[in-house]
Amino acid sequence: MHRTHTCGELTISDLGKAVILSGWVQKSRDLGGMTFIDVRDRYGVTQLTFDSADDETLRSKAKELGREYVIKVRGMVIERESKNPKISTGEIEIKVTDLEILNPSALPPFTIADDTDGGEDLRMKYRYLDLRRNPIRNNLILRHKLAQETRKYLDGQHFLEIETPVLIKSTPEGARDFVVPSRMNPGEFYALPQSPQTFKQLLMVSGFDRYFQIVKCFRDEDLRADRQPEFTQIDCEMAFVEQEDILNLFEGLMKHLFKAIKDVDLGEVPRMPYTEAIRLYGSDKPDIRFGMQFIELNNLLQGVGFPVFDNAELIVGIKAEGCASYTRKQLDALTDFVKRPQIGASGLVYLRCNEDGTLKSSVDKFYSPEQLELWAQAFNAKRGDLLLVMAGEADKVRKQLSELRLEVASQLGLRDKNIFAPLWVMDFPLLEWDNESGRYHAMHHPFTSPKTEDIPLLSSNPGKVRANAYDLVINGTEIGGGSIRIHDRELQSLMFKHLGFSLEEAQKQFGFLLEAFTYGAPPHGGIAFGFDRLVAIFAGLDSIRDVIAFPKNNSGRDVMIDSPSPIAVEQLVELGIKTS
Ligand code: AMO
Repeated sequence: MHRTHTCGELTISDLGKAVILSGWVQKSRDLGGMTFIDVRDRYGVTQLTFDSADDETLRSKAKELGREYVIKVRGMVIERESKNPKISTGEIEIKVTDLEILNPSALPPFTIADDTDGGEDLRMKYRYLDLRRNPIRNNLILRHKLAQETRKYLDGQHFLEIETPVLIKSTPEGARDFVVPSRMNPGEFYALPQSPQTFKQLLMVSGFDRYFQIVKCFRDEDLRADRQPEFTQIDCEMAFVEQEDILNLFEGLMKHLFKAIKDVDLGEVPRMPYTEAIRLYGSDKPDIRFGMQFIELNNLLQGVGFPVFDNAELIVGIKAEGCASYTRKQLDALTDFVKRPQIGASGLVYLRCNEDGTLKSSVDKFYSPEQLELWAQAFNAKRGDLLLVMAGEADKVRKQLSELRLEVASQLGLRDKNIFAPLWVMDFPLLEWDNESGRYHAMHHPFTSPKTEDIPLLSSNPGKVRANAYDLVINGTEIGGGSIRIHDRELQSLMFKHLGFSLEEAQKQFGFLLEAFTYGAPPHGGIAFGFDRLVAIFAGLDSIRDVIAFPKNNSGRDVMIDSPSPIAVEQLVELGIKTS
């Protein structure tokens, strides 16, 4: 027998019990005639004691144990003299009578502790050791719980978990595909799914009605803190529903998860049209944990001879409450922030509403005190507030100010990780102009249904057509997105036409779906949540990497297994990729 208990289990109520524990050596200390070893497993840490007075040989053996040795001990639960209230086993220790080394360990390349000395690269190379650390292990436990609670809720709502294939052909989510060569069909390739979109729609045609899957998706795109090349979705689809049904049901899922896992009552999730999100926050995923809404100032600030403002399509600003006392240095730092190449603004204008009632701006020479007063009024500014204003091309300046808004809020501590502010962003545009290809692209994907009342605009003003599409945003992160689908073959063909697909191309890529729609497709719609992002929000983390057991680095590499890697010429030949 390897263990009678785990290392996180024994308490004062177990005093006197003879136990067997197995685990890893966390650390050892020698004090006088005693050796103390902390033994760790997935459940916790238990202190072991070895006393020379009892058994000198046993104690010498204990002194030889190195960090991360795997050991098995027999002993008796006794009360600890100096208790540790921080851990569940902190009141007891094991007086060891027998010690067996199950496996020695090489010296680990970094300390396996909550605060490790290991840098990111080293931890990734030895990820299996990194996973022994509490913070990472707890993230995976949280991930497991979220997956179980998701299944519980959706099962309760009569959803069926159905697997869809991984070797498929291109799915239209807008990223590049990862492809897999087919040995049996030389010169031909499978694509890995960017999502199970087409399959879940086919399942609706098949009559499954309510489908979900916690599923891996693959997208070959540039990586960021919240993007991995393979990631997991909670993918869902429903038939015989309207947008309202979907929003309610999945708001229910979020409420269930927050209650079950965090004991947080989420309340009703507010909704905001896309155009409003852009106007007020310059982003389709606004962080609404704090206000700082945009105020547009063209009417007020144009026409007085300040060229930057006079020539701008949009002048727009935010109010940083209580920041009038920012020093020159702090303001310069904010200006540098917006001028960074990633943001690309040309500058930042400010107006200080000083505590003594005076107003001081960086463009005083263009504006009279009365004009500055009106400027402050437009923001409803109080003494002590700071107004930050940017100008330029509308789309660009909104994005830039949105970044500044987040930065200022972070500096002011307004982005508390223990506060959760969900938001439905609704009525996304159906199409989005792409300068590079000179044509419209589906903003969500080509199966998204336009709003019925906007269909006539498809030919006259395609950019204005709104979709029955929605995103769930939490704390400024896009957690999920979905839409009501087109289930009518004619409308689907029309969409393909507007997206610049010829009839043949549409037929070649999505003929199977178009055909399926001729066999009685029910009205349907769905949503997919980024599961990694959801776990990260629950864990209070900015990066999804630490909620994934074996993630890729920023170059898409798994440095532990060293992948991707070249393959042998024979393999390339066998796959029909190389001739010899
Ligand atoms: P969408 O492309 O919006 O929709 O994806 C759904 C959610 O998946 C998450 N996500 C990612 N997470 C980590 N790394 C990535 N590279 C990544 N890409 C996306 C986001 C996003 O909101 N088939 C549609 C859904 C539908 O219409 O039902 C789809 O995939 O949180």
